Amino acid sequence: MTKWLGWSWVLWGRFGTSSVKVADRVRAGCGGLHAGEPAARIGDKGIDMQPLRIGVIGAGENGTGHAEYFADSPRSRVVAVADPDATRGGALADRCGARWVDDFRGLLDDVDAVVVSSPNAQHRAQVIASAGAGCHVYCEKPIGLDAGDAEAMAAAVRRAGVRSTVGFSVRNNANIQTLHRLSREGAFGELISVWSRRLMFVDRPDADHWRADPKQSGGLLLEINIHELDWMMMVAGEVRSVYAQTRADDDTAHRANDHLWIMLNFAAGAVGQHEGSWRSATPNFFRGVHGTRGGAQTDEWGNGLHFAAAPGEDRSSVELDPSFDLRAHFLDCVQHDAAPVCDLEWGVKVMRVADAVFESARTGQPVTLRRTEPVVRPTDVPVPTRSLPAAAGTKSKAARV
Ligand SMILES: NC(=O)c1ccc[n+]([C@@H]2O[C@H](COP(=O)([O-])OP(=O)(O)OC[C@H]3O[C@@H](n4cnc5c(N)ncnc54)[C@H](O)[C@@H]3O)[C@@H](O)[C@H]2O)c1
Repeated sequence: MTKWLGWSWVLWGRFGTSSVKVADRVRAGCGGLHAGEPAARIGDKGIDMQPLRIGVIGAGENGTGHAEYFADSPRSRVVAVADPDATRGGALADRCGARWVDDFRGLLDDVDAVVVSSPNAQHRAQVIASAGAGCHVYCEKPIGLDAGDAEAMAAAVRRAGVRSTVGFSVRNNANIQTLHRLSREGAFGELISVWSRRLMFVDRPDADHWRADPKQSGGLLLEINIHELDWMMMVAGEVRSVYAQTRADDDTAHRANDHLWIMLNFAAGAVGQHEGSWRSATPNFFRGVHGTRGGAQTDEWGNGLHFAAAPGEDRSSVELDPSFDLRAHFLDCVQHDAAPVCDLEWGVKVMRVADAVFESARTGQPVTLRRTEPVVRPTDVPVPTRSLPAAAGTKSKAARV
């Protein structure tokens, strides 16, 4: 079990503290400014603001990280925690000065936004109900267990007119942010190859834990390595076709997968390749790209990035850009109407690729993605904006717990 607890820092990367601003949207049902609270003022724009009221759904390891972040941010506060486990949910609620509910529906009236960090199979119903109640939604990846779930969730968010973010936090990592910037600046010329090898050894959780059941977790691809599809699509744009193989060690469930080999044909021309495993005797991970002019690759575990300006040239270390703060970005979307970099609409595109992986693995044939919208090319991918400037003063953690 300990190893399960250990990898989330790798997924999240580093987060900086965020700036202050608050919901200026007053909505019926879930959200709006709250009576009885003094409004803070933002120094630069003079806008009255109050912290966004957040409900955290799922008080496990990851939900705890979210709750601590949003409780500690001057821009938000955690007012409720939902978890059927009274011990976990109650303890986290106490630490945040929030109330505990055993059913997420019990918090929807009191919050402006929810953070969905429950087991994967719960995400669909929770996001649809939360959006239906007018709540902005930060939903952990994967958004459901297939593209049908993802489409239904995105449609609910669209209907409700609320903002959304998918927790594709690996893209936060400084090396990926830097690689994306270099690519946008043309440092690689035309992209030829985008690749990721992510081999892990993760102890199997107890058999009754949701993560051990691919019908609830989606297996390696949906539970962890969907992050790799996300960042590769962020850099290279949308995928046109997929060829993949998967292997499940000892599980015969539909779409069970412990090892992955994925080839991606990007609509803009690059080819992507991903190898993944969470049962590897030789854990390591590297990521990289190369193009007609240059290339870059991370060092093992992705702490550094090495760049060569042309084929055959020596590599040099690149000074990394700051990491990206996806949770601050979510606040920016809600409080400042910032353009989303990975909302549920984007999440649908990623989930369609995941579905194509499973279809190709099942049929042994390449799968061409059906699409109705225009293709997102690398230059159309929303560029992350840095979190908006912080207002003066911060809310100390001590004051909140
Ligand atoms: N983005 C990332 O880097 C990252 C990292 C780790 C986990 N995650 C995601 O976060 C989610 C939670 O993962 P975790 O590691 O915290 O799992 P976990 O097993 O530690 O915690 C899950 C929690 O959800 C609770 N729960 C179960 N059913 C629920 C329900 N109906 N409503 C509310 N709570 C319910 C459980 O009691 C438990 O406390 C998963 O979707 C996982 O994929 C994302």
